[in-house]
Amino acid sequence: MGSRETWATRLGFILAAIGSAVGLGNVWRFPFITAESGGAAFLVVYLLLVAFIGLPVMLVEFVIGRESKQNVVDAFPAIGYGNWKAIGVIGSITGFIILSYYSVVGGWVIQYIFGSLTGAYTGSAEAYFGQVSSGLNTAGFDLLFILLVAGVVGFGVRDGLERAAKLLVPSVVGLMLFLAVYAATLPGAAEGYAYYLSPNLATLRSDALAILPAAAGQAFFTLSTGVGVMITYGSYLDEDRSLLRDGFVIMLADTCIAVLAGLIVFPVFFAQGIAPGDGGIGATFVSLAGAFTTLPGGRLVGTVFFVILLLAALTSAFSILEVIVSFIIDTTGIARSYATAGSVAGIFIVGLPTAFDLQYLTVYDAIANNVLLLLGGLLLALFGGWVYATDAITEFSKGLTSPQFIPKLWIWVLRVPVVVVLSYVLYQNILDVIQTIQTSLL
Ligand code: TRP
Repeated sequence: MGSRETWATRLGFILAAIGSAVGLGNVWRFPFITAESGGAAFLVVYLLLVAFIGLPVMLVEFVIGRESKQNVVDAFPAIGYGNWKAIGVIGSITGFIILSYYSVVGGWVIQYIFGSLTGAYTGSAEAYFGQVSSGLNTAGFDLLFILLVAGVVGFGVRDGLERAAKLLVPSVVGLMLFLAVYAATLPGAAEGYAYYLSPNLATLRSDALAILPAAAGQAFFTLSTGVGVMITYGSYLDEDRSLLRDGFVIMLADTCIAVLAGLIVFPVFFAQGIAPGDGGIGATFVSLAGAFTTLPGGRLVGTVFFVILLLAALTSAFSILEVIVSFIIDTTGIARSYATAGSVAGIFIVGLPTAFDLQYLTVYDAIANNVLLLLGGLLLALFGGWVYATDAITEFSKGLTSPQFIPKLWIWVLRVPVVVVLSYVLYQNILDVIQTIQTSLL
């Protein structure tokens, strides 16, 4: 094994982590989950969970990564807690499953770029989605997406991940601002904003507990926490800078971009008289494509929108693949290129069922996102808060300039609120998944 790679610059690391966080989760999943779960009331609960549940767990990952300088599995023995290796193993498996269907959706996006350019979905948004979302073509574009991801990850940390993030993340932000301005000019804009941004306090009070499971799943998914992406990215840090500040910047950027996506999607919906909340995994694709075909300049806007989605999805997919590849490189010592090729072959095969049947996609998503991801988060909180706390505070405090009570507060937030909320949500979601499996597959 040669010497381990590191990020070239602080900005490069932050952009790569933002690139990981910002993905299909922000632009596709967030608006439709928000719509399904009651609009603005959901937004409030979600923001609270991102800040008080998601961020603390992300910081645990960074601390483990920076102290150990190892992949997700070997990180635990490296910091003296070999017994907790299971977190890394569960994380890698979860990442593997998520990437297997994330790439399938990435493949849809590529098809939608072509569809926008050629006008293929004009007048038949529903039929087009049906055609795009399952079949041989779906598997083919899934493969294309995976190969793009492998192409970048194969180049390594600096030349692959960091360089791609520096180019792609600013492009995503720029293009989204452009579309948000466009959306503001649409006739439905005011209505869209109202639905999205003015929380109904009564709904909030009555539904907060019901909203919690979906909001927690989304909070972890969007921050890329729970599978060890941030352990891996943190392991390439070679100087002691404030992890709190970096984590905060990453969270803020991710949240702003999700909110920005809503500012595009909801005006577009309302301009077309489409009721948000018609739910389902294809909702954003069908409704948006339907809307684009009738809006002024719709083909161009549609193309730009799906290009944004593709770029965002790629930088997220890199991060998941990196977790798996870095583990393989560290344990076997084989070259990065072979490790990358081998993992993508496996990921493609595991994802195949979801390319042929949407019900598998729903089930994969439910298991990986709503159960395994949160299980990873819960274990990280228990480990960070109760087992590793003393060392964690020492590592966390390196480069920290904020007041002394902050590290202690962080540990106590992990110990009680995070553990309680995640246990509750996990329990609810397990019941839910059993039901999804029964209704979808049996
Ligand atoms: N955060 C990404 C998104 O919002 C998806 C993602 C990347 C992810 N890495 C992850 C989700 C790790 C869970 C775990 O689309």
